[in-house]
Amino acid sequence: MTLVWRQVQRAFHLETSSPRILKMCPSLNRAFWTSVIKLDLQTKPRMPPCDFSPERYEVIFLVNSGSEANDLAMVMARAHSKNTDIISFRGAYHGCSPYTLGLTNISTFRMEFPSGMGCQSTMCPDVFRGPWGGSHCRDSPVQTIRKCSCAPDCCQAKDQYIEQFKDTLNTSVAKSIAGFFAEPIQGVNGIVQYPKGFLKEAFELVRERGGVCVADEVQTGFGRLGSHFWGFQTHEVLPDIVTMAKGIANGFPMAAVVTTQEIAKSLARCMLHFNTFGGNPMACAIGSAVLEVIKEEKAQENSQDVGTYMLLKFAKLREEFDIVGDVRGKGLMVGIEMVQDKMSRQPLPCEEVNQIHEDCKNMGLLVGRGGTFSQTFRIVPPMCVTKPEADFAVEVFRSALIQHMERRAK
Ligand SMILES: Cc1ncc(COP(=O)(O)O)c(C=O)c1O
Repeated sequence: MTLVWRQVQRAFHLETSSPRILKMCPSLNRAFWTSVIKLDLQTKPRMPPCDFSPERYEVIFLVNSGSEANDLAMVMARAHSKNTDIISFRGAYHGCSPYTLGLTNISTFRMEFPSGMGCQSTMCPDVFRGPWGGSHCRDSPVQTIRKCSCAPDCCQAKDQYIEQFKDTLNTSVAKSIAGFFAEPIQGVNGIVQYPKGFLKEAFELVRERGGVCVADEVQTGFGRLGSHFWGFQTHEVLPDIVTMAKGIANGFPMAAVVTTQEIAKSLARCMLHFNTFGGNPMACAIGSAVLEVIKEEKAQENSQDVGTYMLLKFAKLREEFDIVGDVRGKGLMVGIEMVQDKMSRQPLPCEEVNQIHEDCKNMGLLVGRGGTFSQTFRIVPPMCVTKPEADFAVEVFRSALIQHMERRAK
């Protein structure tokens, strides 16, 4: 694996060993350039091997944020394919920079003036809220409450959503496209899982049109999904570009774009990629430590074990409360979608979700929110969370739901 990093010495106005700086940040002393090499060495065995070449993911570009990583991946897709159009799902979040805003299909983040030229959205294959979905569709121990009549080896919902994807290809983009971005599980949109096999088929269709496939692992990567280190592995696909950020350095500004030699060369032919802070030694030292801790403390195994335990416990609340419409996810990425009632699947009004959210907070549980109507609670705790902590979260959530039902009854 070749590490692409730029000379950043010019970013230092002072010596890194200046006593005042070391007092503020003692670990800087140990964060030499060797950290960059170390991160490279550790990232390599963590990228999964692939059938035709164990060296598929040979080049890693270090940058500073998830948006920046996806910006770079967009340029790479266009440089390599020599096409413009890029497709992403409705509800997707891929960043807030002017370029990635084209991929982010959530109106809250969009601007009133032109941005993200050449990007097209396609229907998100959401098996709970979308038009199709059933009781075998997703890769999760918990399925939707929707019925389906599919045979065990076929998924009609997947086929229907693929038809929609083909429709986008036939109507909204040029004959040849630059690429397709997908999160293995949508985060900001409320932990949305696609039907099994969808991404595999979609990737084939994209490649037939000359495009490259990009997996945005900003939320799903590094073992959070439990069964695999990378989210794309759960879909049995091999993307051409993988972007990662957030947990890569446990909150410290760092991100990465991993790709093949061919795509990296296409980028180099079209632009000189320069990044002052990308791959700075502090970030690399932290990134290396994070990879070590994930391995040594078996964080991926913990995601699988505690995540599944927690997911199944939350799923019981769906049987108890009519306003819990769906519980889904994998590992430590759990979504709880709130509805007016299970029959209608209409989203619970935002004010009511706000009250439940506030009650959880007052009882000591901080959780996120997501979804088009902000109707889904997102439970994405640190990967070191324990079963007693998961029990606490479920009990607090249950109490908040009871309080809410009592309020409603008055
Ligand atoms: C899936 C995904 N991609 C990209 C980003 C953008 O990352 P950043 O906030 O580091 O720019 C986010 C941020 O939440 C994200 O969830």
